Amino acid sequence: MKKNKTLRRVPLHDIKLSGQAIKHANETLKSGWLSPGPKVAAFEKALCEMMRTRYGAAVASATAGLELVLTSIGAQPGKEVVTTPLTFVGTIEAILSAGATPVFADIDPQSLNIDPDEVFRKITHHTIAVMPVDIAGYPADYRVLKKICDTKSVPLIADAAHSVGSAYRGKPIPGHTDAAVISFHATKNLTCGEGGMVLSKHKAIIDAVRIMSRHGLTSSAYQRKKAARWDYDAMYPGYKANMSEVHAAIGLGQLSVFQSDQEKRRRLAGRYMTGLSGLTEYIELPPQEKHCRHGWHLFIIKLRLSRLRIKRDTFIEKLAGYGVECGVHYKPIFELSYYREILGETGQYLPNATYAGRRIVTLPLYPGLKMTDVNYVCECIAKVIKQYGRK
Ligand SMILES: Cc1ncc(COP(=O)(O)O)c(C=O)c1O
Repeated sequence: MKKNKTLRRVPLHDIKLSGQAIKHANETLKSGWLSPGPKVAAFEKALCEMMRTRYGAAVASATAGLELVLTSIGAQPGKEVVTTPLTFVGTIEAILSAGATPVFADIDPQSLNIDPDEVFRKITHHTIAVMPVDIAGYPADYRVLKKICDTKSVPLIADAAHSVGSAYRGKPIPGHTDAAVISFHATKNLTCGEGGMVLSKHKAIIDAVRIMSRHGLTSSAYQRKKAARWDYDAMYPGYKANMSEVHAAIGLGQLSVFQSDQEKRRRLAGRYMTGLSGLTEYIELPPQEKHCRHGWHLFIIKLRLSRLRIKRDTFIEKLAGYGVECGVHYKPIFELSYYREILGETGQYLPNATYAGRRIVTLPLYPGLKMTDVNYVCECIAKVIKQYGRK
């Protein structure tokens, strides 16, 4: 096939680190100290302030952070975690690695977040936590979830991997939970390259996570160096899951552009909303409610399949033909071979998640995206709909 040289390309992600991130990382690389030290401590403090939480522990990834939180509250075989099936595999891996069983509650078809009524139905005396995911950065229904968790005396632990820029009723996500875990993976709104952080009002959770993340040892190498004392003890069965000083340095640098990056994401999302507003007979736009501040990690549209003569995968292929790269966040977990096989009854087919999984499309959204790119994506969507929409 002949390549069209003039075809415009809009990738799904395009990661650009700030000058400050490169400067901080360079300083650290030359500092002679690469294990967790002052940059990790400064990054934890900065995130606690920004997310209005008392305590935070930086870890190697959100997946590791979720596993450590669950372990710290007593996850073990026989215990269950009620969660959404419309999530990244990391959520489920964390539950399984902590020894517990994921129990899926179906999603709300509009928000794509876990449906609190379903959560209520799925809680049993085996439930050790309820774990919502703020899909795309749109907050779950924390007021109702918290009421349910309080009534049932079950901790509310958020997989807040997408929601570093989100707020619910004016408060960042950790303030509605017993613990929330954010991700600094490469494509996230605030990146360190890789990394995560557990944020909580409970000091005991953060102390346990921090100690477990460094092999269960009472002190870090940096603390021992500062105190000129070599002695240490092991308090818990440990993991190697701490954040490195270099990753924290990148995160600190990225923090200096975080608010302006969020503003760019908001403006780009606003342009998508206007650009696609004439096509709502064929697609549904992301939810927007007054009490929810969307973090705009992802821009997810839902196809109205009955109004189109093509399926979602063909819709994505047609856009790729115009040079627009899209994604799917996510395939429901119970449709992935391994999980379908190993999860019992509790991890099976749910109708809303199945339907959503067939019609969602993630459009490009990142601070380096141009308004003209968004206009182009909207034009291409309009063309595909013109060709394949039912009259
Ligand atoms: C919803 C969700 N949970 C968990 C994770 C895992 O994050 P990490 O890569 O930091 O482990 C991701 C990563 O993309 C995610 O999207």
